[in-house]
Amino acid sequence: MRYGTFDDEKLEYCITQPDTPLPWINYLGTEDFFGLISNTAGGYCFYRDARLRRLTRYRYNNVPADSGGRYLYLRDRQTDDYWSPTWQPVQSTLDHYSCRHGLGYTVIASERKGIAFSGCYFIPIGENLEIWDITITNRRKEEADLSLFSFIEFCLWDAQDDATNFQRNYNIAEVEVEGSTIFHKTEYRERRNHFAFFHCSDPIAGFDTQREAFLGRYRGFDQPQAVEQGVSFNSIATSWQPIGSHQVQFHLSGDESRRIIFLLGYHENPRSQKFDPPESNTLNKKTVYPIIREWEHPERVDRAFSDLKSYWKGILQKFSVRTPVNHVDRMINTWNAYQCMVTFNLSRSASYFESGIGRGMGFRDSNQDLLGFMHMDPERARQRILDLAATQLENGGAYHQYQPLTKRGNNDIGSGFNDDPLWLVLSTSAYLRETGDYSILEESVPFENQPGSEQPLLEHLDRCISYTKERLGPHGLPLIGRADWNDCLNLNCFSDSPGQSFQTTTNREGKNAESVFIGGLFVLAANAYADILDILQQTEKSTRIRSYANEMAKVTDMAGWDGQWFLRAYDDQGAAVGSHHCTEGKIFIEPQGICTMAGIGLDNGHAVQALNSLNAYLSGKDGIALLWPAFTHYYINLGEITSYPPGYKENGSVFCHTNPWIMIAETKLGDGDRALDYYLKICPSFREEISEIHRCEPYVYAQTIAGPESPTPGEAKNSWLTGTAAWNYVAITQYILGIRPELTGLRVEPIIPKDWEGFQVVRDFRGIRYNISVRRKGKGNHCQLNIDGQDIEGTVIPLSVVEGKKQVMVQAIIQ
Ligand code: GLC
Ligand code: GLC
Repeated sequence: MRYGTFDDEKLEYCITQPDTPLPWINYLGTEDFFGLISNTAGGYCFYRDARLRRLTRYRYNNVPADSGGRYLYLRDRQTDDYWSPTWQPVQSTLDHYSCRHGLGYTVIASERKGIAFSGCYFIPIGENLEIWDITITNRRKEEADLSLFSFIEFCLWDAQDDATNFQRNYNIAEVEVEGSTIFHKTEYRERRNHFAFFHCSDPIAGFDTQREAFLGRYRGFDQPQAVEQGVSFNSIATSWQPIGSHQVQFHLSGDESRRIIFLLGYHENPRSQKFDPPESNTLNKKTVYPIIREWEHPERVDRAFSDLKSYWKGILQKFSVRTPVNHVDRMINTWNAYQCMVTFNLSRSASYFESGIGRGMGFRDSNQDLLGFMHMDPERARQRILDLAATQLENGGAYHQYQPLTKRGNNDIGSGFNDDPLWLVLSTSAYLRETGDYSILEESVPFENQPGSEQPLLEHLDRCISYTKERLGPHGLPLIGRADWNDCLNLNCFSDSPGQSFQTTTNREGKNAESVFIGGLFVLAANAYADILDILQQTEKSTRIRSYANEMAKVTDMAGWDGQWFLRAYDDQGAAVGSHHCTEGKIFIEPQGICTMAGIGLDNGHAVQALNSLNAYLSGKDGIALLWPAFTHYYINLGEITSYPPGYKENGSVFCHTNPWIMIAETKLGDGDRALDYYLKICPSFREEISEIHRCEPYVYAQTIAGPESPTPGEAKNSWLTGTAAWNYVAITQYILGIRPELTGLRVEPIIPKDWEGFQVVRDFRGIRYNISVRRKGKGNHCQLNIDGQDIEGTVIPLSVVEGKKQVMVQAIIQ
């Protein structure tokens, strides 16, 4: 069953029923100011950091679901009927409802008793404000007498503190109201120099800024006293809970419309000009007036909306495809690329499953997010790589997370996740392959953000490699530390007290437990690094690094081989994890993927065997499970992974992030049919048909789909902020379609299903537009390339062949 449809023309997903199984959300903003918006206008916004600069409050895990948002109430003054034109929070019946999530904007439209509503929500490029562009139309024959109430709840900036420190917070709220603008200025009198403003383009009949005045005692968002009575109380919040609510009253004759623009924004004043007059406590608003005057104009709003559309057009046209499968096209051309932008911007910080207060930017997460983002905006990718590198420790390790506002490593979580540094090598390699901009390697970057510790980025990469090399265990495999990619495989944790963090508790020295996964990852990263060194003509070093990679590949293939698949790890006692000897957790997905991707076991049949075992034991109708059999009880030597009930999260769900590794591995073995089959099983668009089971948005990937051993197989959770976005984009575009940037040029080497007749790609690469047409002539994978009429050898189009051109035509014949 579906709750909407893809509009592939308009690049929108159109939801036609407000009570979707879970809130189906979208993101607004691309640079500094961001908003989350659900299909019923729930959500919140923040400046740069969802924890430290939150503008509006959101009530996670509340009842009813999705509480807190950009609320509007329409009131018919003739009948006293009132309703939410976005359905929430009043939930009155709407005669018509639709929500169109587009790229960086959302349009919600509805109609009740002849009063039509349309609200377009977006953040103009480069601005720190969100726009609610509202149109109300009277479709009745007779005149309508209406009021429109707006409502948001201000968050007291630090969202963590806002949700906990009530003894203070009930005393500090401060606002100012001037004309149609409500200013939120809590803590501005002391150390903050920023405030929020909520403005309405129309003259207002009244306002409220104190929550209790607006709602009334013991009332919820669904029946505010002000709306019920049709009066605003002009309340000024001094302490308690500051809100912003405007009331606009208007008459509409038959078929008449009214357009009203709301602005919700963030503004900073220079410290020396905080107050006006200077000795007062009154906000200096002179710096923000011009912004408000500019953006309350409908023409300005229209222009910004079309700029937003052009911005996305520009980004998407850098890579577009036409294949025999519609799901593939719409994911690559629109939704997967879009999700890659969102994960690039927000890492794992703010979604409907990530509260914005728990985690900032993850080191391994953001490095992987870059893999799917590189071609969209290489300049921003470059800066992100440098920011990440600046949180690296001198010993080569890395802070596991950092706060986006401060760009400082997060001490609560610290470091010691031994896979972390290697991802920096892979993201840098992807950047160089995309751009050829080797100057990044010379950029001087500090360690731990400490001034004076700067070294060229290249030195950082060196330390990433030596970090692993210097931490090998009894079998010669890399020590796992707190965890590797799988945050929940905590082999040194040994926690027996409730409430201890699996992520940071360490009760073992960490000298024994080893990770086969990091072994594979090291081989992948070390070889990528050696390729870079070759281009830099640092031959001696590259030979050395390559020999490390070869040694590790051997060790991993010997100590990491279980007979029919790759082991997952060795625990603190030296016992194998992910082995047929185990009673539970016999086989894991991660090592089968990463080892094959790294080329381990390609020459001795291990890779083929590993992937066949995986297909037999882990693959199901909803994708490939992380492990089998799921752990049914808690194993103290394995940690958090065994804390989840069977089939959920890392304990045997289809943890989607890992699936594309297997797709890539299958292309290494030349099996395009299996690769695409795995791709489609977790593809959100493909799963749209079973939305009542999948439950999450059908236009973006979720982190996890409950596994076959769970009571609810097929049910997705944790949508949007997942490494699945980047990796699936890489798997389908670079490995299945085979359009892959290399240091020496663009590779075209498709490994597609046998029944595909071909496909077309337009790909911008290093300033040249490649028009690629692939045709199948035989059943094999051999690919012959012809560039502007000239056959070439191999599958990489050398840079010299295309030099000076703006466009090239590439004909690829597969047989
Ligand atoms: C989450 C984390 C990621 C980790 C994965 C597996 O997605 O963000 O860092 O690799 O879980 O545990
Ligand atoms: C939990 C989750 C895992 C996530 C980790 C990060 O362990 O299961 O996916 O990466 O928390 O905090």
